[in-house]
Amino acid sequence: MKKILITEFMEQDSVDSISEVFEVIYDPSLHENIESLESQIELVDAVIVRNKTQLNESLLLKAKNLKFVGRLGVGLDNIDTNFCLDNNIFVQPATGMNADSVAEYVIACTLSLLKNIPTSHSGTSTGQWPRTSIKSRELGGKTLGLLGFGVIGKKVSRLAQIFGANVIAYDPFVESSDAENLGVSLTSQEELFNLSDVITIHLPLTIETRDLMNLSSFKKMKKNPIIINSSRGSIVNENDLLIAYKEKFISGFALDVYESEPVKESFYNEITSSMNCILTPHTSGVTVESNIRVSQFIADKTIKFLE
Ligand SMILES: NC(=O)c1ccc[n+]([C@@H]2O[C@H](COP(=O)([O-])OP(=O)(O)OC[C@H]3O[C@@H](n4cnc5c(N)ncnc54)[C@H](O)[C@@H]3O)[C@@H](O)[C@H]2O)c1
Repeated sequence: MKKILITEFMEQDSVDSISEVFEVIYDPSLHENIESLESQIELVDAVIVRNKTQLNESLLLKAKNLKFVGRLGVGLDNIDTNFCLDNNIFVQPATGMNADSVAEYVIACTLSLLKNIPTSHSGTSTGQWPRTSIKSRELGGKTLGLLGFGVIGKKVSRLAQIFGANVIAYDPFVESSDAENLGVSLTSQEELFNLSDVITIHLPLTIETRDLMNLSSFKKMKKNPIIINSSRGSIVNENDLLIAYKEKFISGFALDVYESEPVKESFYNEITSSMNCILTPHTSGVTVESNIRVSQFIADKTIKFLE
């Protein structure tokens, strides 16, 4: 009977659906125990991971029977995909399954930061009653710029348009007619920096996108935008982001992902309650609903592949 190893949290109903067909070893904390992981992975046909299990070359070399990797999420940074390609191991991400959660997160942060909710809350809850000192804005009529117009970028555009935002996007790999059909204009990166009141990042982390948002890009932003990053941490230079906020090149920021995770002390020590910012612990894609969708999608793909 084929063997499946699951090294991180997966919804129990989905684990059960695989167990009906194959032998399953489910240990949600196995990613913490490298020695045990190395010995267990030797005999399995498939492994299912989230983002904590490092499927690097040295671990994959031990997995002599491995044919399938299921990723309970989208980013593949923790998987040596080149090794998998060269060794006929199929890698299946849960593409699109948490996109609605991320898109809602982006809109929640956009509205919250335009309305200065973080500082309004901290002022009110400490008795300052900042009724006239804090300016609140509407999303309607603003320009929202998307860096990356893939699955999540498209979902964000649809939600932002409902609020009356004008949506533009920078993505050289998308046909302009595809964007226009969704009411979105493709622009250059410079133009997007010039025009946007809100800039939200939906890119993969690559050599081109690493450090894309640095002081020189923040200085090009004409409308003191709000910056939202729910994609991958190292796309935004965290030091430069803090400088850009202090120098008022930007008017707020929301980060769900960081250069290193958990977020560095040297970064969060700089955050105060008087800043218009929101920090979350890489949870924008994680909701009760998306966990169920992601787990069942990977369970179905695993069964189909091995059958
Ligand atoms: N925080 C979370 O919990 C969470 C959840 C899901 C996805 N993500 C991340 O969000 C990001 C976007 O996810 P997605 O599902 O929309 O991906 P996607 O692949 O559908 O879209 C990415 C888009 O970026 C474009 N792109 C690639 N390189 C580019 C470049 N140099 N300049 C401009 N555009 C470029 C591609 O053409 C593509 O359209 C990924 O990094 C993913 O890992 C994070």
